Amino acid sequence: MPLTNAQQRDVEALIHPYTNLARHREVGPIILERGKGIYIYDSRGKDYIDGLAGLWCVSLGYNEERLVEAATRQMRELPYSHIFAGRSHEPGIELAERLKEVAPFTASKVFFANSGSEANDTQIKLAWYYWNAKGKPAKKKIISRTKAYHGVTLASASLTGLPNNHRAFDLPFPGILHADCPHAYRHAEPGESDDEYAARLARNLEAMIEREGPVTIAAFIAEPVMGAGGVILPPATYFDHIQPVLAKHDILFIDDEVICGFGRTGNYWGAQTYNMRPHTVSCAKALSSAYMPISAVLIHDEMYQAMLDQSRAIGTFGHGFTYSAHPVAAAVAIETLKIYEERKIVAQVRRLSVPFLKRVRALRDHPLVGEADGVGLICGIELVADKAAKRNFPADKMVGAACANFAQAEGLFTRAMLSDRLAFCPPLIITEVEIEDMFDRFVRALDKTEEWVRREKLRD
Ligand SMILES: Cc1ncc(COP(=O)(O)O)c(C=O)c1O
Repeated sequence: MPLTNAQQRDVEALIHPYTNLARHREVGPIILERGKGIYIYDSRGKDYIDGLAGLWCVSLGYNEERLVEAATRQMRELPYSHIFAGRSHEPGIELAERLKEVAPFTASKVFFANSGSEANDTQIKLAWYYWNAKGKPAKKKIISRTKAYHGVTLASASLTGLPNNHRAFDLPFPGILHADCPHAYRHAEPGESDDEYAARLARNLEAMIEREGPVTIAAFIAEPVMGAGGVILPPATYFDHIQPVLAKHDILFIDDEVICGFGRTGNYWGAQTYNMRPHTVSCAKALSSAYMPISAVLIHDEMYQAMLDQSRAIGTFGHGFTYSAHPVAAAVAIETLKIYEERKIVAQVRRLSVPFLKRVRALRDHPLVGEADGVGLICGIELVADKAAKRNFPADKMVGAACANFAQAEGLFTRAMLSDRLAFCPPLIITEVEIEDMFDRFVRALDKTEEWVRREKLRD
């Protein structure tokens, strides 16, 4: 089909993240016009259920008037102020106070940035700053994990453990290490229980730390549930085994809650779902229901004391963004947190996760589905060529991407990731009826994918 005028203008003007730029010139963009609840409408008026809440972020759906009003009010009053050199404003102060109150550990202070990547870059800088202040300047290396996703700036892309974020970008940086991805379906030995598998991963982690020298390791960073790596749920006792190893070697534990924070897994934080006891937390996305860009780093008191020492010695804390604690973003985030509280969002996720997970697990009966599991209102589904052997399709056949395209034709947005894994992470305001509709659309897409796989003889 020839490109429409708007599509042609897009192709000539825009670079699209995470897109095959060559193919995009041929097929053109899908142009979206408006949203309501969990639905988005394109320029032809076709509706789509947003099965991924944008990019795991539009927790309150597309027409939350209170957030619009909060932004408008703040824009009229004080549309911008930085907080450098001791300036401040009420929305920044109130949001920091609220985040301290809900933090999954005793947080002392809050630092604001604009994206998850910036929050995680900040985490690395703070870990170095901290260990320098503590007189342990050799502690520099950061351990992340294969298939982790922590962002795309130079340092956070290095933390990310996905090949496409490194290839041809000359990344990762030296000093960023990747430990095992905790994915029992793929990596547990036959007959190994989840707990035994988790214990083995902790032994592997300790071996890595000892190989590198514990005095050189600054921090370990982990998402509670790996998101963009494929929605990979760790074994229930994974962090119980990992944390003593970190404590033994005096390694900071950074919890990346950019997807899991604010109710997604059925608790306020993923840390609570997986018994994590982090020193510090990164959060973003649902912090403002994605209506404004904002992220936060929550800091424990020992780290704050080290920052005080450093800034006494150096004369300033030399880090911060023009838009740190942007008043409009902060005002929207405050309203978002109020809505979560008033609507008891965590209880709502727990209630809805029952029908959600029932539909997810029922997908295991489909001939294409190897693994289908989730927690709260997030799940990952892996398509395989052979269920018994857990054999993937050849990567170049792009079966997951084909399924996402069939889903789009059915009026459903999902996301295809590495190894033909697909994700659902709908707005937290989804209803039970909408959950059924979402999975009905997905099953139709799966059936179409299966027909296509057979027609193309992709199993042979
Ligand atoms: C867990 C996690 N951390 C960090 C990021 C990076 O966030 P941003 O895209 O806002 O830089 C993401 C984005 O998806 C994420 O899922």
